[in-house]
Amino acid sequence: MNPMSIRDSLNTTPRENFSTNEPLSVVGVCLDEETWTVLKLFAESAPLIRLRSHISEYRVKETESATDWLGTPSPDICIIDFDRDRRKASQAAENIHSAAPETALFAVSSDSQPDLIIQAMRSGCSEYLLKPMGREQLLNAVARVGGRRRERLQPFKAQVLAFMGAKGGCGVTSLVTQLGALLANSFSKKTLIVDLHPDFGDSALYLGLTKYRYHFFELVENNDRLDAELLSSFLARHSSGLELIPAPEGNDTTRRILPGAIAQTFDFLRMRYEYILVDMAPGLSDENLEMIRHCDQLQVVTVAEVSALRNVVRHFDYLTRKEIPRERFRVVLNRHQKRALISEAEIEKTLGQKLFWKVPNQYAHVVKAINGGDPIALLSSSEVTRNLRDLASTLGVKTAGGEKKKESSGLRGLLGR
Ligand SMILES: Nc1ncnc2c1ncn2[C@@H]1O[C@H](COP(=O)(O)OP(=O)(O)OP(=O)(O)O)[C@@H](O)[C@H]1O
Ligand SMILES: [Mg+2]
Repeated sequence: MNPMSIRDSLNTTPRENFSTNEPLSVVGVCLDEETWTVLKLFAESAPLIRLRSHISEYRVKETESATDWLGTPSPDICIIDFDRDRRKASQAAENIHSAAPETALFAVSSDSQPDLIIQAMRSGCSEYLLKPMGREQLLNAVARVGGRRRERLQPFKAQVLAFMGAKGGCGVTSLVTQLGALLANSFSKKTLIVDLHPDFGDSALYLGLTKYRYHFFELVENNDRLDAELLSSFLARHSSGLELIPAPEGNDTTRRILPGAIAQTFDFLRMRYEYILVDMAPGLSDENLEMIRHCDQLQVVTVAEVSALRNVVRHFDYLTRKEIPRERFRVVLNRHQKRALISEAEIEKTLGQKLFWKVPNQYAHVVKAINGGDPIALLSSSEVTRNLRDLASTLGVKTAGGEKKKESSGLRGLLGR
């Protein structure tokens, strides 16, 4: 194949930014000239791989450690040509696989007989690339290795905390956005808010975020092709470091959300964050129920009013009938005032459980935060921020960076952390 046509074919689809991380290091073993040229052009045209060296013999002596001849650290990918000597190529692959199991092995060959492919896979190769090596097959194979490396580098398993109002206007969005910004900023935690409102969610507005194109339900509808790149196009980013997947702005389209799709989407998201806060609409819709089944905790936000408290009791009864473990439920009393008409003791007696948290009533500050779109800068000295910072440390967060507060001890266990 002439190099010009290879270059042309390498420049076709712009899908290379699957990773913003460092390029993957590649070592070639006994590659023929054309394959090596394809690799060189691929490395030049897309910053996904960096060619480290080419070794022109299969080094299979037992006395020689594979890591010695591949170099340290071991490369991310080793591409072995199987055509020159199949037996030695297999032996070399086995040696590398046992000495450097984290190195991905690609076999390259012009022979596509199934038993040869199986043999290469048995020697530890995860990919079998056919000559002439095309851009698409190389790109897909490299992308798979990149994806696995990212998974290894991001071993997060987020705590998913769902927040639902006992009725509308109890303060869910105010609390979720402020708590999220604190977790991201003061505690340096990788934090995401998902606005699960089926329409007209407020999280983006409260965070002053206007630059976004897609909403959460579109992500759910596309969950079969979910990867880091697709997710990135759904994220709105706040200056605190907090990320948000917003709700739809209107309710003009019919959605096809399959049962289980929300849970699957959260399985994917969990691996990428330390905390996920979910801003839910009040009520027990199918989406909310699936979320409640899948979250680690349901924080029901209420105010000290008879109608809201009655709803909390009804919700808990209903969810218990649906076999959702009662330990998962927490009650957060918002707009708490010491001299309220309904006392704390009365509230706890009505609910049949202790209040998990109380957030003080501070209307002027909360409204200022909403209007400014910056929950922590404006509220840094307010009682609500101090209170939510304590809540964040209660969530088991270890202090980081400039945060002076010592780690909370008493309530950590409530989250099982
Ligand atoms: N701790 C608080 N002290 C005083 N006012 C508050 C507090 N928390 C929230 N509010 C006020 O309550 C109102 C409703 O808050 P918010 O929009 O956060 O509620 P919500 O539960 O998200 O409502 P919705 O059901 O519409 O989504 C806002 O005007 C907000 O300023
Ligand atoms: Mg809201």
